[in-house]
Amino acid sequence: MSKQIKKVAVIGSGVMGSQIAAHIANAGLPVVLLDIVIPENEDRNFLSKSALEKMRKAEPSPFMHPDNARLVDVGNLEDHLEKLSDADWIVEAIVENPKIKSDLFKKIDAVRKSGSIISSNTSTIPVSILIDGQSEQFAKDFLIAHFFNPPRYMRLLELVTSPKTDNDNANIIRDFCDRELGKGVVPCHDTPGFIANRLGIFMLQCAVNAAYEFGLTVEEADAVFSKPTGMPKTGIFGLIDLIGLDLMPLISKSFLSTLPEDDAYRNLMVPHPVIDKMIADGYTGRKGKGGFYRVKKVEGGKVFESVDLNSGEYRPTKKSIPDTVKDAGGNLRAMCDTPDNIGKFAWSVLSQTLCYAASLVPQIADDIVAVDAGMKLGFNWKYGPFELMDRLGADWMVTRLESENRTVPDLLRKAVGRSFYKVQDGSAEYLSVDGEYQCAIRPQGVLLLEDVKRASKPVTKNNSASVWDVGDGVLCFEIHTKMNSIDEDVLALIKKSVSLIHQSGGKYKGLVIYSDSDVFSVGANLGLALFCINVSMYSVLGDLIRKGHEAFHALRFARFPSVAATSGLALGGGCELALHCSSIQSHAETNMGLVETGVGLIPCWGGCTQMLGRAFAKKDRIGGPIPPVTQVFDIIRNAKKSSSAFEARDLLFLREGDGITMNRDRLLYDAKQKVLSLSKHYKPPEQFKLSLPGSAGKTAIGLIIEGLRVLGKALPHDVVVAKSLAAVLCGGEKDMTSPINEEQLMDLEHREFMKLQRTQGTAARIGYMLKNGKPLRN
Ligand code: NAI
Repeated sequence: MSKQIKKVAVIGSGVMGSQIAAHIANAGLPVVLLDIVIPENEDRNFLSKSALEKMRKAEPSPFMHPDNARLVDVGNLEDHLEKLSDADWIVEAIVENPKIKSDLFKKIDAVRKSGSIISSNTSTIPVSILIDGQSEQFAKDFLIAHFFNPPRYMRLLELVTSPKTDNDNANIIRDFCDRELGKGVVPCHDTPGFIANRLGIFMLQCAVNAAYEFGLTVEEADAVFSKPTGMPKTGIFGLIDLIGLDLMPLISKSFLSTLPEDDAYRNLMVPHPVIDKMIADGYTGRKGKGGFYRVKKVEGGKVFESVDLNSGEYRPTKKSIPDTVKDAGGNLRAMCDTPDNIGKFAWSVLSQTLCYAASLVPQIADDIVAVDAGMKLGFNWKYGPFELMDRLGADWMVTRLESENRTVPDLLRKAVGRSFYKVQDGSAEYLSVDGEYQCAIRPQGVLLLEDVKRASKPVTKNNSASVWDVGDGVLCFEIHTKMNSIDEDVLALIKKSVSLIHQSGGKYKGLVIYSDSDVFSVGANLGLALFCINVSMYSVLGDLIRKGHEAFHALRFARFPSVAATSGLALGGGCELALHCSSIQSHAETNMGLVETGVGLIPCWGGCTQMLGRAFAKKDRIGGPIPPVTQVFDIIRNAKKSSSAFEARDLLFLREGDGITMNRDRLLYDAKQKVLSLSKHYKPPEQFKLSLPGSAGKTAIGLIIEGLRVLGKALPHDVVVAKSLAAVLCGGEKDMTSPINEEQLMDLEHREFMKLQRTQGTAARIGYMLKNGKPLRN
């Protein structure tokens, strides 16, 4: 269905419009970006053109690949209206003003082609007002598709239709945003702030009030509403700094003008003179002179400061976790039960916000699943409000609310004696508004390991990894160590899984390597490496390298296909694991890289070898062995890391035939389909043999290293590591006349590793990385 959208036009090249256009280009579609003409400006395309230029330089980039900018065609609303005539979807993202939007819609309606769909990105204007006065056909083709900022990175898309909206149109946009733009599309009712802003803003306001009421500092409040409650680390005040303190009163004003008279949000409107003064003085958050937090430059460095909520004065930030939060250890009920001000604050904010959420279903959405999805995707909460209520327990909440003589929302009362979510016969169910449980059905093409886990037991497992049967003869290898790092147990289970599939008599057709977590794998366990180095157990690490070779070798030459479903971070050994699979199916947002040089090492689990294989196999390769060798040298020496799967192609990590999935929830399904399709006529690869340049290459690369050293771009230990890398990539002592195979190359990796682990520079780099999370320059 999504194929029906082939060209898109976006009107308004401000904050949202420009980035929405960029994200549509990320999906590979041509997009027209139009804006008004600035009177007396010679360049009639000034606004859209400068928006595009700004995006080219922005960091983080709205584009998943710099080339995507070429898909954006800029213009203006006076000279280029005809550019709308072949657009399948026209996205309006102009100023939040009903009259201006309405006038624009009339212009659009006059030039658009029949069958095109129009959407608005409005955050506050009801769909009924937007279609008022428009043609009947326009109303059928119109809906609200509300992106969150920044559109590339925020997964939520709220979809609001009117009773007149044609169902097919809503389905086309829903499908396109889901599959092609990777969004979690949540259907909402046409009510103020839809789901996420309605609840999110309520909670922020509630928390600010409660921080004052219970005398908490901004750090204390943020320590409660961050990790312990499954909310982003910005906390409450950090998030308001990001949104802009000055925007909060504007949002309030808009809400107060549209919310029902008896809405609980109205009770939150209490004055905070200190915050008003901050706004008036330009302390509006990160975009202003500072907000509740600021970083102040001082001689020799910087200091972090926070606002005292009572005086408005800045003082040094005190980031310590309150004892109540520590003692609760993630148990929300224990935290809310603690009779100090932290406990009272937590209960006050949670109870008000969760009751508000419970009172709004079905007003804002059909079911609790939509509300939870809205908060998880739009505000990055780990748990939605109804999941939080399950953690607190409906019975406990109701008892406490009643003891405080507070109103208990109907929906919360319906959960008493049970929960909002439950598992029935291995399937997830949720409590619907009529008090009955409904099956939570995933859309076609969405497969999550959490669902498989709920319904089955692992085929095999150990402490670090598990293997799951994901159906149709496909197994899924899941790493579950911290940050999915690779240890001996992971390697052992890879080997065991290969044997298991070989010995299954055709029952199993192939393997996907995947986990539901944010990280594919950060590579080898550095803590273990440092421990071994510190006690001079060099042979232990040498053995671990060998075990990696054996496991990855077994995977690469298995008689069945394997597909690495990469997402998030696929670094170091994690990247090497992916390079050994028959194919990669990557989520678009994947940072891949062989980053070992940052810790004074080189890729030794076959990473150098597989990268050489990729560089030599490139179809457009010209010249002898030096160009591919220097290309790989450049990628590994500089620890180049892709900022998206599209960039991973430029860095050779992804090959032709490897796939990219835009929607994270579809990754496992796509990878499984890839295994099934490869398994039809699967033949394991032959070991490649490469004619590497030997000492001539080492001399050439030596000159590059010397040049970098002289320019100060390579520090002493960079030179040591780069020489080891060059030794492997040039084929050691071999030369062009005696080709070298994969196993021999891996022996070279091992040899250089054994040398590097004994150097002080490498030990210092690993130690520094573990302590500071960033590379040491030595
Ligand atoms: P913005 O102020 O950055 O951009 C507004 C755009 O409208 C500008 O490009 C401006 O040139 C254009 N414009 C002004 N007058 C116009 C006219 N008479 N005719 C046509 N275009 C005109 O605004 P922003 O933030 O991009 O918001 C756009 C829409 O997206 C609004 O409806 C807003 O509510 C919504 N939205 C904004 C979010 C945000 O975080 N900024 C998040 C989600 C939705």
